[in-house]
Amino acid sequence: MRVALGVSGGVAAYKAAELVRRLQQEGIDVQVVMTRSAQEFITPLTFAALTGQKVITEMFGNESGAANVQSAIEHIAVAQRIDLLVVAPATANVIAKMARGIADDFLTTLYLATTAHVVVAPAMNVNMWEHTATQENIEALRARGVHVVPPEEGYLACGMTGAGRLASVEAIAKAVCGQLGIRHDLENETVLVTAGPTCEDVDPVRYLTNRSSGKMGYALAEAASRRGARVVLISGPARLDPPQGVEFVSVRSAQQMHRAVLEHLSRATAVIMAAAVADYRPVAPQVKKMKRGNGRVTLELESTPDILADIARGKGDRIIVGFAAETDHVAEHARAKLESKQADMIVANDVTAEGAGFDHDTNIITLYSRDGSEKAFPRMPKIDAAHRILDRVLELRRAGRQLPAAQPAR
Ligand code: CTP
Repeated sequence: MRVALGVSGGVAAYKAAELVRRLQQEGIDVQVVMTRSAQEFITPLTFAALTGQKVITEMFGNESGAANVQSAIEHIAVAQRIDLLVVAPATANVIAKMARGIADDFLTTLYLATTAHVVVAPAMNVNMWEHTATQENIEALRARGVHVVPPEEGYLACGMTGAGRLASVEAIAKAVCGQLGIRHDLENETVLVTAGPTCEDVDPVRYLTNRSSGKMGYALAEAASRRGARVVLISGPARLDPPQGVEFVSVRSAQQMHRAVLEHLSRATAVIMAAAVADYRPVAPQVKKMKRGNGRVTLELESTPDILADIARGKGDRIIVGFAAETDHVAEHARAKLESKQADMIVANDVTAEGAGFDHDTNIITLYSRDGSEKAFPRMPKIDAAHRILDRVLELRRAGRQLPAAQPAR
């Protein structure tokens, strides 16, 4: 999700920095746009440091001659890129310009140019807020579908008491999440996700592995975290950054993954085994590099522990989800795994199908559950597939699976 945060000039501008952090916790990418007067209260540098992105402060070049936008039509590019524009704090002046369609700086131009959701959090002196002009402007914005987070009552920076104080960061973040469809329906769950391949060493330079990229597991961790779950992501070697806000455990081999899963299991209310765990490992990995010789070499392999089957025994109310990456007889194999592993659900995909499986950003999944239900989905981005899997976990929970014993607070 991409959000542009418009900061206009009010004492509450400093609270926008906290809002940036709060939105980032939701996995939202924040681009800050500041009006000139906002810069009287807080420097662009603060936001640049928080977001790691250039802050847009000017429509064109400023006095020093340097435009801080990429091109003359940057407002159009930003307008098209974002899922939502939130203006916090929004001054009476900015609200008036938005209501009348005046576009005389980057922020107000962006408002006109975007078709994304718009959230406005006003902050001003109580008389300015209650003035008919402001109230009419607010009504005009509301009538246009803009979501207004009303200011709170209280002691104001101007010394007066009344309505006008910027709403809490939590209230603004909630409005933004609501508009973006970010739900917090997993806030009672602790989800343990495994991801990526495992590597089974042959010698110090060689190992056995598979083509898993980790993308599906990381998408699951991200989606669960966005929906309010505590997330532990246990990952084999993957070239991906762990999503923000998740507890990350890096492992290499199937045995290490097994240990890590057992270590964190007691906290988990749901386990999703998206990792492509190696089924075999060399019986005797060499300490020194194996030298090349003539003729054949035989590598003796032994089974790795079946982590999924192990944790599904005595799972109680913990919901256990496994994956089945197949190349043939997908339904048959998925159903067999549901039984053999005693999982609550198997997410099956045909890795030979176009747009599915290893290293793709999309997947085509079918969910098989123990109640005999079967739900097939069309090709979709892995993050969307992750949400469909989590929807089903939630359905199982609501269908009567109690939450396992009290979870420690986050
Ligand atoms: N799995 C596991 N431990 C293993 C192997 C697999 O926990 N040692 C998990 C995977 O994370 C996945 C599920 O079991 O959720 C199915 O994995 P898959 O490799 O498809 O099945 P296998 O049991 O290995 O069976 P096969 O390779 O014969 O298809």
